[in-house]
Order: sequence, then structure tokens, then C-alpha cells
Amino acid sequence: MPFRASDPVQAMTPTPNASLADAAPWWRPARGDALRIRGGRPLVGSYPISGAKNAVLPLMVAALLTPHLVTLRNVPASLDVAVLSALLRRLGVDMNWSRATVGLSLTMCADRIRPGDVDADLVGRMRASVLLLGALLARCGEAVLPMPGGDAIGLRGIDFHLAGLRAMGAEIELVGGTIHARAPGGLRGAAIHLPQPSVGATENLLLAAVLARGTTTIGNAAREPEIADLVACLRAMGARIDGVGTHALTVHGGAALAGAVHAVMPDRIEIGTLACAAAITGGELTLRNARLDLLGAAAPALAAAGVALREVDGGLVASRAAMGLVGIDVTTGPYPEFATDLQSPVLALLAFAKGASAVTETIFEQRFRHVDELRKMGANIVVRGRTALVRGVPELRGAAVTGMDVRAAAALLIAALGAAGESVLDGLDHLDRGYDGMTEKLAACGAAIERSGGS
Ligand code: UD1
Repeated sequence: MPFRASDPVQAMTPTPNASLADAAPWWRPARGDALRIRGGRPLVGSYPISGAKNAVLPLMVAALLTPHLVTLRNVPASLDVAVLSALLRRLGVDMNWSRATVGLSLTMCADRIRPGDVDADLVGRMRASVLLLGALLARCGEAVLPMPGGDAIGLRGIDFHLAGLRAMGAEIELVGGTIHARAPGGLRGAAIHLPQPSVGATENLLLAAVLARGTTTIGNAAREPEIADLVACLRAMGARIDGVGTHALTVHGGAALAGAVHAVMPDRIEIGTLACAAAITGGELTLRNARLDLLGAAAPALAAAGVALREVDGGLVASRAAMGLVGIDVTTGPYPEFATDLQSPVLALLAFAKGASAVTETIFEQRFRHVDELRKMGANIVVRGRTALVRGVPELRGAAVTGMDVRAAAALLIAALGAAGESVLDGLDHLDRGYDGMTEKLAACGAAIERSGGS
């Protein structure tokens, strides 16, 4: 059924075979399979920052915790959101979409759910689908989930998730690549300590703990702003959670949850990426809805590298500082340290900067796969173990490159915008997974960019 901007609300009845297009009628597979980019034009204008991909996914899963309506505003129209919509719809969740001034508005109703109906194909496309485990166990007492997929950027185990849920009384078996989880007597509160402050594990355990009987403590919890956004929505639904923003979360579980209306936080990774793009191209972008406080250690790091960010009413203005781009040393880490998701775009920025930089990746072991692609464009970067050593060059030149994960694709795109001549970027599925209309928004700010190759 076509989705038109004029449609106030698109109502759908769940069916077991709901496809992506049915569950997310706004989703259009991108035309063409490559992006052709002519670099060297300054980006100038107003760029709307979308709702955060990494916040919206757990927020959508939170709707499984209640039979009442949960409405999310500022939902980004990205492929990951479409895939999770199809998963949720197949589980029996009613999805109602409407276009809003900013992003999409989604109202979900999970009053009749079928916990066994999880689509293996869809789960294989997205790591965040593992969040269904905590929510389904808590709500239904059982969950059967194929092992989740996602970007190939490291081991990305889910052992912390499983250990935490087991501590809450879940019985979990892995049979032939499928997770079978049961909590016959319901989940109960537990004292959990995470070996590392995992974002996904903290979210999964929060989702489970709000319905579990008794009190759960999560030690060494992640402090990413997306966790605070999830907690804000769960609190609006009636959950009692203390310690947000710290490493020690306490959840007083067991109460039935109500519905809620919640606006998804702005995407801090899109903010950082576009700030780099403005500085690389020597332009000036007004990043609407952007907030400096979301960037953590990336804010001073970007400033030191010559990315000027000025707070204005309703957003940030990003440009290249008068001193020009300068090499810096960066080490990724859990929030508020430098975000691993900003490592790729910042590496692209530093390829253009005066002097040397050392970028050390501590979260995911395979997150330098964009380096070879940047080298095709003339970047001078070598990888030594977990550190990429960069010597800035005055100019990159266009090349045919492939983005192999969400953030790498965005990094190559902004490098191409600053490079002389034409680039062709493959791997657009990755770009579409994580960003809402990034190419269109860039084109509106003067980028010479078009989809090519394909229908
Ligand atoms: C989330 C983000 C991703 C971001 C990452 C780190 C979403 C949808 N994705 O991913 O964009 O790059 O946080 O900020 O929000 N680990 C284990 N066992 C586990 C869980 C994690 O060993 O059970 C390890 C991982 O391999 C990794 C580290 O812990 O080395 C951090 O991973 P985690 O914070 O869980 O990342 P995600 O939640 O998958």
C-alpha cells in the first residue's frame, strides 16, 4: 500500500508474513546501487539531524513491554528501523506510521504478541535484534531467537546479555544457531555486574528488569546517552529506574507498564559526522536539532582538530576553524570517551589535516576496514595493531571505494565530498541502514551527489 505524505496515519493489521514494505510503508529501497560524488564543493546550508538510530531501536523494542500504546516521535526513516518494524510486526505488534514535520511518528500496540514468531532472515540483518530477547522473556516468559547479525566489526559476542538474563532466572540454550530462552516462573531481580560497559547488554537487561519481580542492579552499566533516552521512555511508561548517567543502575521491577509518548534523541553520530564534513569541505552547516552535550570527549577532540562548533538557537553551526585542520591523537572508549562510531569519520577528517595523528580503537577489533579505501583516495594511513597512524595530505582524489559497515560508508562519503574529482561509493545498504536521507540532505547543502548503476 503506497504511503503518501498526506496520509495522516497508516494503520495495518499484523500478519505472519509481513514484509519490510508492509511493516514500514515509507521504506523505499534506494534507487541505484552506488553513489557518484564529485568532491571539492563546500557544504553550505541547513542540515536536519535525524533521530538517533541507536536510540530508536531499543525504544521500539520497549513497546513489547506493555499492551498499551507507545508513540515515538522523531523516528529516522532508515533501513534498520524498517527491519525492526518487520520483526515487531511479525511478533504481532500493530504499527501505525505518520509523517511529522521532523522524521516519522510511530505508534505501536503490543496487546497480542506471538513470542515464537521471529524471522531468522531479518534477525540476521541486525545485531540490535538481540534486544528482543530481554523484552520477550520479560513479557511472555519465553523467546526463540536466531543468533543476531549486524556489522562485521569484531566478535561482538552476546555473552554478557545471556549471563545477565540467566542471573534473572532465564534458562537459555543455544541449539544450532538459535537461542531458546525460557523463564517458566517469570524473571526475578538480580545483582548483575557487566565485564565491560556494553551498550546492548545494558539495554537488554533494563528491558527485562522493568518487568522482573524485585530489584535488579546493573553494575558497570553503559552510560551512553541512548541509555538515558531509553530510561526516560521506560520511566514515562511507569518504570522505576535510578542511577541514570552513572555506572550503577537500579531497577525496581514488577509493576505493569502503561503507554507513553516519547521523542527520540538526536543522532550524535550524525552530528559528529556532518561536523567533520563541513570542516573537510571548508563549508558551513547549520546542524538543526544538534546538541554539543551529546558528543562527550568528541567535542574537545573535534575542536582541537580544527572543527569549529558554535551553539545557536535550535542547533549547532559547524565549519573549519581559522587555524585549519590539525592532526590529533584519539582513543575510542565507552561514553563519555570518544565514540567508536565517530572513529571512522574522524579518520577521514584527519587524512586531510596538517601533521600526524594516532587513532586507537579499543572497542571493536575490526574497525579499520575503511583505511584501505581511504588509501585508494591517496590518504597516508598505516594500521599498527589497534592504532591507525595518519599523516595528513593536502589533497585526496576521487576513487572507487566500498563502505563495509554503517560508519565506514559515511566516512568514505565525507572523504569523497572533500576529495578532488569523482568518487564512486559502493555499499549503500550500509549507509541506508544507519541514516535517514543522508544523500538527499547533503545534496540540499550543495553536494554534487547522485545514485547510479541500477534501476
Ligand atoms: C552499540 C551500538 C554501536 C556502537 C557500540 C559501542 C547500537 C545498535 N549499536 O553496539 O553502534 O558502536 O554500542 O558504542 O546501539 N561485548 C561482548 N559481549 C557482550 C556484549 C558486548 O564481548 O555480550 C563486547 C563487544 O564485542 C565490544 C564491546 O563489548 O567489544 C562493546 O560492545 P557493545 O557496547 O555491546 O556494543 P553494541 O551494543 O553491540
